[in-house]
Amino acid sequence: MAAPLPIAWLNGAFQPLAEARISPLDRGFLFADAVYEVLPVYAGRPFLFVEHIARLERSLGEIRMRSPLTRPAWAALLTELVERNGGGDMYLYVQVTRGAEEGRNHALNPALAPTVFLMACPLAPLDESVRLTGVGAITLPDERWGRCDIKSTSLLANVLAKSRAADAGETEAILLANGKLREGSSSSTMVVKDSVLHAPPYGPEILPGTTRDLALKLAAEAGIAVCVGPITEEQLRTADEILLSFATRGVLPVTRLDGAAVGAGRPGPVWSRLAAAFEAHRQALAGTPLLPAG
Ligand code: PDD
Repeated sequence: MAAPLPIAWLNGAFQPLAEARISPLDRGFLFADAVYEVLPVYAGRPFLFVEHIARLERSLGEIRMRSPLTRPAWAALLTELVERNGGGDMYLYVQVTRGAEEGRNHALNPALAPTVFLMACPLAPLDESVRLTGVGAITLPDERWGRCDIKSTSLLANVLAKSRAADAGETEAILLANGKLREGSSSSTMVVKDSVLHAPPYGPEILPGTTRDLALKLAAEAGIAVCVGPITEEQLRTADEILLSFATRGVLPVTRLDGAAVGAGRPGPVWSRLAAAFEAHRQALAGTPLLPAG
């Protein structure tokens, strides 16, 4: 990944990222007592802004925090961060921690002021080889905690899983538990069988994906049958197509799973229809307001 863009926001001020500092007593540092969001920006406009901020508000609520900013204030802040970093395509990282305190106390202190950190990162166009040949993935047992619906920065199990995929020369680790598909280490996972797009149900085991939600909506609008329900390991391994979705890359085709070809071993027709629908949707949103009027 390329280095982040130069201007960040930390605790109330824009500043050079290289100069941004937090206390080592910040609970985000000591306990990963923090939640985050990653939003893509296309042509200077944060994509799925409301969906990302709604998920941030939900994550905060689940860890007994309130959003430090209103939606209009988030919209203004993100827009200014994009402008200060030159506009165009990029992605934004937003992290809210419970804040710093005098000492290391497991129990939370509701009086703390949260730490709010935002940075912008370059978003390179998708490599043409991915469109042509797809990406590879491995499967691993899901070793994460029981509240993966919270977008927490406590990502050690995800980091280790992604590293196992990288060791195998592949892009993603797809996590399984009790013989069922959960999600990727940093992506939602969907499968296609007999032209039906299947996605696992939401619950505490997986993150509600903003990109997956849009993909399912666009699929339904395009006349692709959609089915949300448990997906077995067997169904994963015999799928015609496997799709990954995540904010920074949209929907990607997985053409190799644990070294074996997925379906025909090349990006499939449902992926290519979805990728086209995504592109059209992105273009249709250009220049529209981030928040509904009123
Ligand atoms: N990750 N599941 C997990 C575990 C994720 O980390 C992500 C995204 C998703 C997809 O969510 P969305 O479509 O809203 O990006 C699902 C981001 C990109 C990250 O951690 O960098």
